[in-house]
Amino acid sequence: MTTEIGDLIRSRRTIGLFRTEVPSAVIVEAALEIASWAPNHKKTEPWRVYWLGPKTAHAVVELNSGLIARKKGAIEADVKRKSWSSVPGWLTVTCLRSDDPFREEEDYAACCCFVQNLMLALWSNGVGTKWTTGDVTRDPEFLRLLGVDANSERIVGLVWYGFPGVIPEQNRKPVETFLRRLD
Ligand SMILES: Cc1cc2nc3c(=O)[nH]c(=O)nc-3n(C[C@H](O)[C@H](O)[C@H](O)COP(=O)(O)O)c2cc1C
Repeated sequence: MTTEIGDLIRSRRTIGLFRTEVPSAVIVEAALEIASWAPNHKKTEPWRVYWLGPKTAHAVVELNSGLIARKKGAIEADVKRKSWSSVPGWLTVTCLRSDDPFREEEDYAACCCFVQNLMLALWSNGVGTKWTTGDVTRDPEFLRLLGVDANSERIVGLVWYGFPGVIPEQNRKPVETFLRRLD
């Protein structure tokens, strides 16, 4: 494996804290095109992407704060409102549903490859991401705000993006912990 792709994959981190600048639309559009080269069985290209503008992002922040307020109280909700309001970029990736459960599973797998491609393509331009499947993404109101039809698409994740404020450390277990070598 070339060092370049290894370094890119290893160095990508889930970013929780972003700088305020919004990455250019050109970077995002280019990353989406690269993401679409994800493998997908039967060439279904099952991913759909919703790119949230400030108005929709604000509505999602308020929806999330309302959920937190009900679960944990007003102070927690306010903390989340502040941190979520500072996220520079918002994408949501969905996957087309299918009547065939096997197709649906394969298509979801393809959409996950799409998200990883997207995150790596952005990272190669210094743009960090966070893939989240928090409570808000499973609230029916979230789908309504985005105009997603729950009968035809499912949420794969909300993907925040922006230039990282802090890049956390991570580690992984050695290959021998998950590899079984067979005769
Ligand atoms: C399907 C999926 C859902 C995730 N949802 C969340 C989430 O809701 N909140 C969060 O903080 N991180 C979420 N993550 C990011 C993981 O927490 C992160 O990948 C993990 O901590 C490893 O860190 P790294 O991405 O920097 O290697 C999610 C990742 C995946 C693949």
